[in-house]
Amino acid sequence: MGNGTENREQWGSRLGFIMAAAGSAVGLGNIWRFPYITGVNGGAAFVLVYFAIVFTIGISVMLAEFVIGRNAGLNAVGAFQKIKGGAWPVVGWMGVIAGFMILSFYGVIAGWTIAYMIKSVSGLMTLAAAGKAGDAFGAFVTNPVQVIAYQVVFMAITIWIVYKGVGEGIEKYCKIMMPALFVILLILIVRSVTLPGASKGLEFYLRPDFSKLTGASIFAALGQGFFSLSLGMGCMITYGSYLNKKEILPSAAVTVTFLDTMVAFLAGFAIFPAVFAFGIEPGAGPGLTFVTLPNVFAKMPGGMIFSFLFFLLLFFAALTSSVSLLEVCVAYFKDQMGWSRTKASWLLGGVITALGVPSAISLGGNLKIAGKDFLDVMDWGSSNFLLPLGGIFISLFVGWVWLDGAKAEATNEGKHPFSWMTAWIWICRVVAPVAIAWIFVKGLKW
Ligand code: PHE
Repeated sequence: MGNGTENREQWGSRLGFIMAAAGSAVGLGNIWRFPYITGVNGGAAFVLVYFAIVFTIGISVMLAEFVIGRNAGLNAVGAFQKIKGGAWPVVGWMGVIAGFMILSFYGVIAGWTIAYMIKSVSGLMTLAAAGKAGDAFGAFVTNPVQVIAYQVVFMAITIWIVYKGVGEGIEKYCKIMMPALFVILLILIVRSVTLPGASKGLEFYLRPDFSKLTGASIFAALGQGFFSLSLGMGCMITYGSYLNKKEILPSAAVTVTFLDTMVAFLAGFAIFPAVFAFGIEPGAGPGLTFVTLPNVFAKMPGGMIFSFLFFLLLFFAALTSSVSLLEVCVAYFKDQMGWSRTKASWLLGGVITALGVPSAISLGGNLKIAGKDFLDVMDWGSSNFLLPLGGIFISLFVGWVWLDGAKAEATNEGKHPFSWMTAWIWICRVVAPVAIAWIFVKGLKW
């Protein structure tokens, strides 16, 4: 068994780490999931609840994960084992399992982005102009051979980047893709908010109507927050483990949380004005992106280009997240089992791709567990269950079990005290565990 701490890979620069961590956070969760969940949950009021959760609980759990990861210099399981042992590594284990689960269905949806880039320039606009974007989407996702083929292509790219390693793979490509993503998003926003009729979308998105909030929507905001910030499953522990001892962790947590939330918020500006400008239902669900946006693009001058750019953006966002999901699993097998990076990447990547096949098939509507599509079960079980649960334990670990160690690590042994230390500690001790547990009880329903 290797303990992985000697000659361990490291990020090449602070910027590289920030881009990689923000790349992990910014993903399908921001651009595909956030707008449709916001649409389903009534708009602006949900957005405010989401912000409140992210900037209290989310940011604190992120710092807790960085602190644990950098202190141990190990994967999620190894980190808990090294710092405390006992039953704590189970938290890391849950994370690795969540990694397998999330990446299995994430790869399927990410595969759609490749398909839709190609479709954008080969007839999707004509179909959409004829009002057939919904039919085209339905025909595509219920054809498992196609969906699986694109999933395999997407997973192969993910595996290849992870196999190249932390610096030469993950960091290098995130540094190119993240700024590109930002530029594309800005172009789309300008197009969307200048459409005639865009103001109704802005109103839906920005004027809160608190009567629309329910226990279930607060629960959805929590699950969305954990999913979007890549929390609760050891992803930020793993990325933190490649950080040098000089990095200032609280400021890194603030930057990554801020970037992630900004991209999600901006994605809403690209989508809602356009959705309303063309009289589309904002609560359309997961299809919001893949069904309604092509309609929107088809009615815009230069729509083909905007459509292609949008799905390229989604592809980049998905890729920088999928590599982090795979890295959680690879780091575990590398550190704890002594596997080589090559073996871990290709073998685990292959297994996860195979695990995604039932999700891909379930889109045809005939692979259900207790009435839900297999893909939804994987999504629901991981984002709304494993991640918040992981968040509770990570907070308790830092707030009660390993407090002095965590404080020392968070301040670089006292060299960089930070002003919200007390708030952070109490959020970890009480606020986060109680709030998550309470939201669980309120919102947990099938
Ligand atoms: N945060 C990613 C997204 O928003 C998904 C993700 C979840 C990545 C958990 C890593 C860990 O798409």
